Amino acid sequence: MKAWQDRCLHLLVLSAAVHYVTSLEEELTDSIFGNFLDPVKDLFEHEDELNGSLVKFSLRNPSHPDDDLCYITAGNAQSLSACAFNSSAKTFLVIHGWTVSGMFESWVSKLVTALFERQQSANVIVVDWLNSAQNHYVVAAQKTKAVGQEIAHFIDWIEEVTNMPLDNLHLIGYSLGAHVAGFAGSHANNKVGRITGLDPAGPDFEGEHAHRRLSPDDAHFVDVLHTFTRGSLGLSIGIQQPVGHVDIYPNGGSFQPGCNLRGALEKIANFGLFAISDAVKCEHERSIQLFIDSLLNQQQAARAYRCSSNDAFNRGMCLNCRKSRCNKVGYNTAMVRRPRNVQMYTMTRSSMPFRVYHYQLKVHFSSKVNTTEMESSLTVSLFGTKGEAENLELKLKEKISSNRTHSFLLVTEQDIGDLLMLKFKWEETNGWSASNMLKMVSSWWSGDNEANNMDVHRIRIRSGETQQKLVFCLKDPGSHNLNQELTFVKCQDAWKKAKRFHLDSLTARS
Ligand SMILES: *[C@@H]1O[C@H](CO)[C@@H](O)[C@H](O)[C@H]1NC(C)=O
Ligand SMILES: *[C@@H]1O[C@H](CO)[C@@H](O)[C@H](O)[C@H]1NC(C)=O
Ligand SMILES: *[C@@H]1O[C@H](CO)[C@@H](O)[C@H](O)[C@H]1NC(C)=O
Ligand SMILES: *[C@@H]1O[C@H](CO)[C@@H](O)[C@H](O)[C@H]1NC(C)=O
Repeated sequence: MKAWQDRCLHLLVLSAAVHYVTSLEEELTDSIFGNFLDPVKDLFEHEDELNGSLVKFSLRNPSHPDDDLCYITAGNAQSLSACAFNSSAKTFLVIHGWTVSGMFESWVSKLVTALFERQQSANVIVVDWLNSAQNHYVVAAQKTKAVGQEIAHFIDWIEEVTNMPLDNLHLIGYSLGAHVAGFAGSHANNKVGRITGLDPAGPDFEGEHAHRRLSPDDAHFVDVLHTFTRGSLGLSIGIQQPVGHVDIYPNGGSFQPGCNLRGALEKIANFGLFAISDAVKCEHERSIQLFIDSLLNQQQAARAYRCSSNDAFNRGMCLNCRKSRCNKVGYNTAMVRRPRNVQMYTMTRSSMPFRVYHYQLKVHFSSKVNTTEMESSLTVSLFGTKGEAENLELKLKEKISSNRTHSFLLVTEQDIGDLLMLKFKWEETNGWSASNMLKMVSSWWSGDNEANNMDVHRIRIRSGETQQKLVFCLKDPGSHNLNQELTFVKCQDAWKKAKRFHLDSLTARS
C-alpha cells in the first residue's frame, strides 16, 4: 500500500515537472528531483519487520579515521571502556544522510580526520544508519524519527553511565542526518549542547512543524549551513527555511562557486543520468566542505553577516558587525541565542580555504540631466598594502540614475591589506542604441557636451573583515570622462581636519 502511495506521489511530481519545463536547466533540475525521489531501493523496505536496532555507534580512532574498529552499544558499559571512550572529552556524533550506495561516502572520514585535528582527545562517533538510509528517499525520510529516537536512548544511557555533561555533546548531521540529529536532540531526556545541520534535507521537511524537522528547540545551540536550496516546483534538495538559531546561506544558499551545476547539467545531457549525482553532490556536500574548512583553517575563518535578505546582502548593505551582526562560519560559529532565527550570508571561494574578503562600495553618481536609462558595466580595481585585485565587476541590479548613491558588494579572494587606491571604470553597454545616439547628437547640437555626463567624485568603502570605513576621492577632478579609468585615492585627512578646525573655530567664536 505504502509503496503505491509513494509511487503516486512520484508520478505527480514527475508529471508536474514535465508540465512546467521551460529551459534546459529547469528540465534537467527536475529530472534530478525525479531521480532524487525515485523509488530505487524498494528491496529494502522489509527492514521494518526486524526489531533489531536501526543504528550502530562506531567510535573512530585518529590513526584509522576510515575504519569501524570499535562499536559502543547502549546498555553495555563495557563497550565504553573497550573502545577507550573518554567521558571528560568533547563528543561528536557524525550522522550521515540518504544514500544510494549503502556505504559511507568519502566525506565521512575526511570530517572525522578534521574533527580529530581540531580536538585531539575528542570522541568521534560515526552513527551508522545505512540500512535505513538506503531505502528510497521518502522511506528513508520517514525513518529519521525512529533513528533519532534510538540515538536519544544512546545519549540518555551514555549520560547516565558516564555523567558526561551534555554541553560537551555536539551532533553533526548532513542532509537527512540533520533531521535525525533534530529528533535525537528533541527525544533525549536532557538538552544536548549543540547540533550542526549541514544542508538539512528539504523534501518532506520544508514547511513542516518544528517537531517534525530540525529546529532550534532540539539543542542549546543549533547552527545550520544551507548550500543547495535552489529548487523548482517548490522542491529543493536542501531546506530553504531557517531551522536553527543561526542559519548561514553561503553564496545565497543556492549555486556554489566551482560546482558548475550548469556545466554538470550539460554533461548529463551528453552522458546521461550517471552524472546527476555529481552535480547534486557538489552543492549539497559543499556544506560539509565548509565545515571541514572551518575546523582545519581556523586562522582563515570565514565570516557571515546578518541580513534581512540575500538581495540586500548582494548590494553590500549588511557588512556591519555591531551588536553581533556578524559571526564565523562552521565550527567557529559563536553561540547566539535569540528567540528568532538569525539568517546570515557570506560569499566564498570555489575551494578551500573558502574565505573571501567582503567590501561595500557606495558610489554616488551625479549629473545635470536625468539619465535613468543608462545601462553600463562597472569594474573596479583595488590596490592595498598587501596586494591588488583588478577588474572586479560590480553587479548592477538596476539602472544607474542621476544624483543617487548606489551600493555594491565586492569580494576579493586574497587579503589585499589596507586599501590605498582604487580604480573605477565605466562602460556604457547600450552604447549604440538609438536613444543614445539621439542624446549624443542633441547634446552635440546644443554644444553642451558635458550635459549628460555622469560624474563620480567620491566612493565610500566599508570592509566587512576589518570593519574599516574609508572615503576615496577622485585623484584628478579635472578628468571628467567616465569612459576612461578613474583613479581614486584616500581623501586628504588634512582637508577633513582643516574643515573640522574651521567648524571648531566657528563654534568657539559664537
Ligand atoms: C524481536 O523482539 C522480540 C521480543 O523483544 C524477540 O523475542 C525477538 O527475538 C526479536 N527479533 C529480532 C529479529 O531481533
Ligand atoms: C580525556 O579528555 C581530557 C579532556 O580533553 C584530556 O585532558 C585527557 O587527556 C583525556 N584522557 C585520555 C586518556 O586521553
Ligand atoms: C544633481 O545635483 C546637482 C547639484 O545638487 C544639480 O545641479 C543637478 O541638477 C542635479 N541633477 C538632477 C538630474 O537632478
Ligand atoms: C529626474 O527624474 C525624477 C524622477 O523621474 C524627477 O523627480 C526629477 O524631477 C527629474 N529631475 C530633473 C532635473 O529633470
